Amino acid sequence: MMHRLMLPICLSLKDIFSCLGFTLVGAIMERAVVQITLFGLLLAFVTTLPNKDDWDIYSFHINSTVTSRYATTVITSRVVNRMDESKEIEFLVRIPKNAFISKFRMSIDGQMYDGVVNAKEQAQQQYTEAVSRGQSAGIVSSVGRTLEEFKTSVTLAAHNKVTFELTYEELLKRKLGKYELQIHARPMQPVKDFKIDVYIHEKAGINFMEVKGGLSTKALANAITKTQTDKQAWLYFYPTEDQQKICDSCGEDGMNGDLVIVYDVKRDTSLGDIEVSDGYFVHHFAPSSLPRIPKNAVFLIDQSGSMHGRKIEQTRTALIHILNDLAEDDYFGLITFDGNIFHWRRELVQATKGNVDSAKDFARNIQDRGSTNINKAVLEGARMLNAHPREGSASILILLTDGDPTSGVTDPKTIQSNVRKAIAKKFPLYCLGFGFDVNFEFLEKMSLQNSGVARRIYQDSDAALQLKGFYEEVATPLLTDVTMIYIGGTNLTQTNFSQYYNGSEIVVAGQITDNDIDSFVPQVVAISSKRRVTFADTNATMESTGTVSDSHIQRVWAYLTVKQLLDQELLLSGPEKEKVKTDALKLSLKYSFVTPLTSMVVTKPLGENTEVLHKPKEGQAPQQNWQVPPPSLSQTSSNPVFGKMRSSRVGAVPGAGAGRRAGVGGPPGAAGESGALGQYHLHFGPLDDYHLHSRRIISGHVDPFPSLMNYGAVAHKKPIRVPPHRFLIKTENQSLPLCFDINKDVRLKLLHHPSGELSMNGELDSLRYGGFKRIVIHFETNKSVDVKIDGITVKDGHDVKFYTGNDHITVGSVTVIKRDKEVDVTAGDTRIVILLHQQNRKHLLWPVVRQQPPDSNAEGILALKPVAYEEVQQTRSTKLRIKDQEIDVVSAGAADYSIPFPPILECWLMSAESALQRPLDDFSVAEL
Ligand SMILES: *[C@@H]1O[C@H](CO)[C@@H](O)[C@H](O)[C@H]1NC(C)=O
Ligand SMILES: *[C@@H]1O[C@H](CO)[C@@H](O)[C@H](O)[C@H]1NC(C)=O
Ligand SMILES: *[C@@H]1O[C@H](CO)[C@@H](O)[C@H](O)[C@H]1NC(C)=O
Ligand SMILES: *[C@@H]1O[C@H](CO)[C@@H](O)[C@H](O)[C@H]1NC(C)=O
Repeated sequence: MMHRLMLPICLSLKDIFSCLGFTLVGAIMERAVVQITLFGLLLAFVTTLPNKDDWDIYSFHINSTVTSRYATTVITSRVVNRMDESKEIEFLVRIPKNAFISKFRMSIDGQMYDGVVNAKEQAQQQYTEAVSRGQSAGIVSSVGRTLEEFKTSVTLAAHNKVTFELTYEELLKRKLGKYELQIHARPMQPVKDFKIDVYIHEKAGINFMEVKGGLSTKALANAITKTQTDKQAWLYFYPTEDQQKICDSCGEDGMNGDLVIVYDVKRDTSLGDIEVSDGYFVHHFAPSSLPRIPKNAVFLIDQSGSMHGRKIEQTRTALIHILNDLAEDDYFGLITFDGNIFHWRRELVQATKGNVDSAKDFARNIQDRGSTNINKAVLEGARMLNAHPREGSASILILLTDGDPTSGVTDPKTIQSNVRKAIAKKFPLYCLGFGFDVNFEFLEKMSLQNSGVARRIYQDSDAALQLKGFYEEVATPLLTDVTMIYIGGTNLTQTNFSQYYNGSEIVVAGQITDNDIDSFVPQVVAISSKRRVTFADTNATMESTGTVSDSHIQRVWAYLTVKQLLDQELLLSGPEKEKVKTDALKLSLKYSFVTPLTSMVVTKPLGENTEVLHKPKEGQAPQQNWQVPPPSLSQTSSNPVFGKMRSSRVGAVPGAGAGRRAGVGGPPGAAGESGALGQYHLHFGPLDDYHLHSRRIISGHVDPFPSLMNYGAVAHKKPIRVPPHRFLIKTENQSLPLCFDINKDVRLKLLHHPSGELSMNGELDSLRYGGFKRIVIHFETNKSVDVKIDGITVKDGHDVKFYTGNDHITVGSVTVIKRDKEVDVTAGDTRIVILLHQQNRKHLLWPVVRQQPPDSNAEGILALKPVAYEEVQQTRSTKLRIKDQEIDVVSAGAADYSIPFPPILECWLMSAESALQRPLDDFSVAEL
């Protein structure tokens, strides 16, 4: 009988000081203030790096699945305590701010410890009780630029293992014409069994996809492989342990950085796509083929004394860029303010070249001085816009400030009420809070009250870019007064939007009354320039997932509803506030979201403190927390283990990873380098249904592409035939891959390193199933890994072992990781994965190179250099020109077995000799 102690620890922003360790460092970075005492502390942390022999991360996997912009990411980390005594093991990861954690669990000795989401008050009470009993442990959620931190720890017995598993969910937001899935990887040490798998499925179709972020540069770029079909994309990131130390922003402590997958979807109909499942719907509305609406913009620029130095310089720079970008039919106004306000012009003027030049001169001369009269500035801005009504235009008011109101009207409530009256819902107010001295909640509330949003501008070298990026998001209004109407819909999320900007997206979710899809009629009414427009496309891609229950649509609805209720809660008071709060809490509990209203209680093994995880709130400065001496510090430091682990974070201060990216739209150069996928990928696959493709070949044109499901169904009816092996040669530009068949049983040379340090051969299995039945990798002297469908044989000289279960095996310098459906082999800079596929109860093996040095001179079918081709259209057939040779091709399809659930790719089928540019015999070997 197992007893569990319920000793909760709380960490909201009020008591976040127990996370002193890194908020402290974060604060130093953030403010560039070096205080002697703090610096001393910092040094103390640096000198106590963890001893790598103590504990080891056995595996670290990140798996992200995006379905219709809703991303569910699972981080799994398995850690082993290598000591002869018990030890505290920490799990620390960063997740996007926008995400809600929905699941966390630990598994120790087959026992599962699940986190349970509770109302925050309840958790708070448990926390208080625990503290009064004198029990506490450090647990942290802190706010960075785009990420927040999740941390927990558990004491592990000698030589024991723990598996941590964290799941979080987020709806990707479209900004500047793209979605960004940010995955932060920082396992805190190089990990042999490290991988990131990303799968994106967009029914509307994927328009483009690219990879950015610090981890997609230089040494690590060739550890990324990606595959894309019309509606699906797969991305694998498999860096070797050595690479994890040498990349940018990596070191002895391993990787520390982001992988950012940037993409957009296709938009066929102006109404956008509507997905329906189980009585819920999600509508994505983002028309782009509309004319822009001229705008009236007034910029209110804080020039108070606190803007002194770099802030005011960056503001000037950004403002000059923004003024340059105004369109000639825009009107604009510019006010700077401190204790007083200063007009560039008293009224709005047209953005003619002369006016813009004059405004730029004014901007160049903005000087910092005095106090902050926000009230006066915003009211004057509103007056200017109100005095300039222009039919068919969109007005916006943008306030930039770095501090609290300190002169004139200073009471936040009075200011908000004044501003609300002055604006009277006629245009949105956007508030940009520069740095951490602003009362962000005040700005946030004021924006929300006036149909705008508030953004934090991080005080960093890229602040000017952040400002400009934000402006770009609202620079091109396409519609105003957007009303989303859903006849037959209920429990809708927000449906009225004052403006819609190019590059953004309006998302509405709701329920369909009685799940009656036939009487469900979506419609959008809005004003485009001077016209009233209605979007009521009856041909909208209203895709119902049919009988397959697709819970993600319901979750999107819950996610959006909770987010919007939390915003409303900020605006309301009294019973209304309580009602909204109760509703948000109910949903958070039902969908197990860790929101600002809920906490996750993590129960640990007997004798250990239960922990409570809270979601931190945007708008509070990290440095506010370290001014209070942390009550838990003495406790923390009295635990040498914890002290050590804590110090390991110092190499990776907040901001170092996340800070590379602008919080707003405009990514700085560092994040802008796209993954140079300078590699050519070869994938190949046996054909399950020869008929299907021969038909295609005969007809000579491309059939509508069979979906995987269809393909499976057709394959099922397959006549008895010897399946050939169809190999895919992918190109990285958008052109179709090449494919060719091998119709005989051969032993193939897959990958041979020139110096002979590694060679891999495979034996095709035409007789029975297709694919490979055996793959052998030789390395060093008399060492090999022999992979068959039923297990692997590892030979180390005379020592021969057979493995069937999951394991990590080290042979010489080679690491073999056997997982359920794949064998992952790392040798030097090469990482090979052999996938085990099951198709119609048949198994086949599949080799894939997940990473290889870009300048490798390796030979073999997996090492082919890219073949550039040109299409030569003729009346009845297609030819491809490859190196001055014209080759007959037909359009065909091939299963891409480099992916666990192989999709069918469209390809140009040609003879093996043509595709390989050499006789096939050059690729055969006598022996495995
Ligand atoms: C990733 O998660 C998805 C969805 O939960 C699951 O279907 C898939 O098998 C996972 N992939 C890996 C490599 O674990
Ligand atoms: C809106 O953005 C798209 C691409 O993102 C662009 O092609 C189009 O021209 C833009 N529309 C306007 C009015 O600027
Ligand atoms: C949305 O706008 C329509 C028309 O503009 C109005 O009738 C309706 O009351 C608004 N709804 C909300 C919730 O503000
Ligand atoms: C809807 O589809 C039908 C037939 O495919 C077509 O005739 C009609 O023009 C389409 N309507 C719209 C609004 O696109």
